[in-house]
Amino acid sequence: MARVLINFAHPALEKSRVHQQLLTTVKGIRGITINDLYEQYPDLDINVAREQSLLEKHDIILLQHPFYWYSAPAIVKQWQDLVLEHGWAYGHTGKALKGKYFGNVISAGSAETGYHPDGKHQYPVTQFLLPFSQTAILCNMDYMAPYVIYGVHRMDIEDIRAAAQDYRRMLELLRDDKVAPSALLRLNYMNEALQLPSQTR
Ligand SMILES: Cc1cc2nc3c(=O)[nH]c(=O)nc-3n(C[C@H](O)[C@H](O)[C@H](O)COP(=O)(O)O)c2cc1C
Repeated sequence: MARVLINFAHPALEKSRVHQQLLTTVKGIRGITINDLYEQYPDLDINVAREQSLLEKHDIILLQHPFYWYSAPAIVKQWQDLVLEHGWAYGHTGKALKGKYFGNVISAGSAETGYHPDGKHQYPVTQFLLPFSQTAILCNMDYMAPYVIYGVHRMDIEDIRAAAQDYRRMLELLRDDKVAPSALLRLNYMNEALQLPSQTR
């Protein structure tokens, strides 16, 4: 069984439609740890030792957040700057994260069609996520294809509930080793793993 950590960041969870539902749906799943960064650190005063210890205890690290200005909410940057220390996460002796898998889990207001050369955002989401993928690689982790829920502004509550059930299923596949994280390196989106026949995951 893989140990899955979700580092979660939403600065206004009380106003959230999507992530509140995702969290409600996946909270309490055995083997999945949810680390709500804004709840832990409302003043952005990150406990580095706690965060490093959490990372060390898990095999798969997910960063779940709404897509904000083509990136993540601010606490994620603070977390990266403080937690991913030289000599621990990267550098000659920084091997604490070696062999772990990392992936973004994001919701985006825009539809996927917006993230194309002729769409209003011009670039695919994976381009905007380059600072995350390259950070993971520098920190000796493997970067999995991102799990993206597009077009959330047009989703009604039933759509959101269905998306949350899919996400729950994805987490259970990861936890139960029914999808090899290494297989997720090759996909465009982690979501695609849900459609694959089980023997090819
Ligand atoms: C400050 C801010 C920045 C945003 N930037 C983007 C963006 O760059 N691209 C996009 O597709 N949606 C963007 N959105 C839409 C959010 O991604 C969307 O509202 C969120 O995923 C909904 O999740 P929630 O209901 O849990 O808040 C932005 C929203 C806010 C409030």
